[in-house]
Amino acid sequence: MRITILGSAAGGGFPQWNCNCRQCAGVRSGALRARARTQSSIFVQGEAGCDGVLFNASPDILEQIRSNPTLQPKRAIRDTAIAGVLLMDGQIDHATGLFMLRERGSPLPLWCTDPVHEDLTTGNPVLNVLGHYCGVARRRIEPDGSPFEIPGAAHLRLRAFALASKAAPYSPHREQPTPGDNIGVLIADTRSGRSAFYAPGLGEITPALFDVMSGADAVLVDGTFWTDDEMIALGLSKKTARDIGHLPQSGPGGMIEWLDRLPARTRRCLIHINNTNPILDEDSAQRAELARHGIVPCEDGMTLEL
Ligand code: MLT
Ligand code: MN
Ligand code: ZN
Repeated sequence: MRITILGSAAGGGFPQWNCNCRQCAGVRSGALRARARTQSSIFVQGEAGCDGVLFNASPDILEQIRSNPTLQPKRAIRDTAIAGVLLMDGQIDHATGLFMLRERGSPLPLWCTDPVHEDLTTGNPVLNVLGHYCGVARRRIEPDGSPFEIPGAAHLRLRAFALASKAAPYSPHREQPTPGDNIGVLIADTRSGRSAFYAPGLGEITPALFDVMSGADAVLVDGTFWTDDEMIALGLSKKTARDIGHLPQSGPGGMIEWLDRLPARTRRCLIHINNTNPILDEDSAQRAELARHGIVPCEDGMTLEL
């Protein structure tokens, strides 16, 4: 299978439009050695040239499609390689791009859990609005690990797992976590048997989830924050990383400790990186620490062949 990283930043992207923090200002001016990044999304194909699955529809989807011609084959006057869209949650950074796909000639095949479907038909009724354009052919994801396939996306088999993270602020269950608000997906290539685990929003790793991660050849997991109090320390928020459903990388019980316990062969990648996270600065001590642990921060346009 081929995984194309369309967007590796968290909500807001990097640099964020209104942010003058050291990193956003630095990447804008060129003073910081860092790459700009669009918002959180991947495209997965059974092999290069096949139609595939779009995981999340970011607000940057049009720019992402322009930068990655594999999503736009030229087989007909109107064409796309997106066989279906699968949502990891109902947040703005993962669902707003659905509006941009409205010119389709047929209803958009959309895979999401019941809680996400509820969010996107009530609190933020994107799917109702799309009903006035191409419409949506919604397929239910059960976040219980049962296998499913997406018609048109050859050689891929998926399994979704409910994660402890957070629903969007407009969700009816923002403060009553519901299984399926956020999912992680194990993506397997049915021919090679190789697999990747993708979870851009991951607040807590349970032993059962760690077993799933341990069986994957690659993990692409929540890289939002380095420290739990990152936004508080910068005076940008009163909430910790864990408060908003993101496990920080550093510290006891943090993502680095978990990734250290994976089998040596597992590729370890961080995705959904917030603009405040010091790992974006290629010259930072934190970036060097990741390298010492064999952890790679995803970049837009990067591909993984598994
Ligand atoms: C999150 O992942 O916590 C959200 O996407 C944040 C946001 O988009 O505002
Ligand atoms: Mn997000
Ligand atoms: Zn910033």
